[in-house]
Amino acid sequence: MTANDVTRLLEHYVDKSRVLPWRSPPGSAPPDPYRVWLSEIMLQQTTVAAVIPRFERFVARWPSLGALAAADDAEVLGEWAGLGYYARARNLIACARRVAAMGGFPKSSAELRQLPGIGAYTSSAIAAIAFGEAAPAVDTNIARVISRYWALAQPLRADVENRMSDIVAAGPAGDIVQALMDLGATICLPARPQCTTCPLREGCRAFASGIPEAFPAPRPKKVRPQRFGIAYWIERDRALWLVRRPARGLLGGMAALPGDDWSGEAAAAGDAIRVRHVFTHFALELAIVERAELSGEGWWQPIDRLDQAGLPTLYRKAVAAMLEARSKQLPRAA
Ligand code: ADE
Repeated sequence: MTANDVTRLLEHYVDKSRVLPWRSPPGSAPPDPYRVWLSEIMLQQTTVAAVIPRFERFVARWPSLGALAAADDAEVLGEWAGLGYYARARNLIACARRVAAMGGFPKSSAELRQLPGIGAYTSSAIAAIAFGEAAPAVDTNIARVISRYWALAQPLRADVENRMSDIVAAGPAGDIVQALMDLGATICLPARPQCTTCPLREGCRAFASGIPEAFPAPRPKKVRPQRFGIAYWIERDRALWLVRRPARGLLGGMAALPGDDWSGEAAAAGDAIRVRHVFTHFALELAIVERAELSGEGWWQPIDRLDQAGLPTLYRKAVAAMLEARSKQLPRAA
């Protein structure tokens, strides 16, 4: 990238940077590594808009790494409920304890990468934003900006990272990384890039081509298999029987309705209440079936306090669908 374009990128960032609760303003001292790390983990699979209120609630509850390291696992998983990808929360706890025992975050991307839940992108992002290392953090937004700048239709990851290494070496790494993130999120949009307001348009080859949106070429979509499962609604005295899922695997460690293992290949017959939910590797249709006998180890959760159970989104949907269906039933005759 030309030196002029890097300068224009940084000037644009000074004017237009998004104010986000884990950031410090352009040109100022870096933010607390704890907040940078937490935000990067939350942002791994979740949008900025969805993360902002959850981040604020989380740091109000656990303001420091030490506080989080001392927290109870179930409390943290409960606070994570609704954010999805619960392996992130389990790794978050493991990482907090490891780093607290080390006396603080290591400062290099190579050392950060050794920690639970921290991969190539996240280690680079934390090292650049919190410690100023010229680390090539490439997320989807940044990959799109770079692919367009050099008009790469089928970019190879290593090639994009090499180009990013050169860019971050040309100035303050944390500001450059975040400036490119903002550009990807607000200007260099996937379908409708706003090139007339882009600080990089002078050197941008995709802009010069007249069809910037064609870079990078879209990848063929994977088809998601459809699976079917059953959840049991076991109720007594206005309380619902909940269980905790096994520590490993999908929704590991989270509160749940008891049920089968979702290996069904066809919808269960009958007129049960059903909800649909999309996971990364498959789509699930879950039938909610009332049942009298208990299933698994669990606890009685009062129905008017279900919001405190830390249920992930799938089960929140199931509960909401059941309560909604009930509210439409005619009251039973006394
Ligand atoms: N996405 C991932 N990390 C981010 C950050 N630090 N700021 C904005 N969006 C992001």
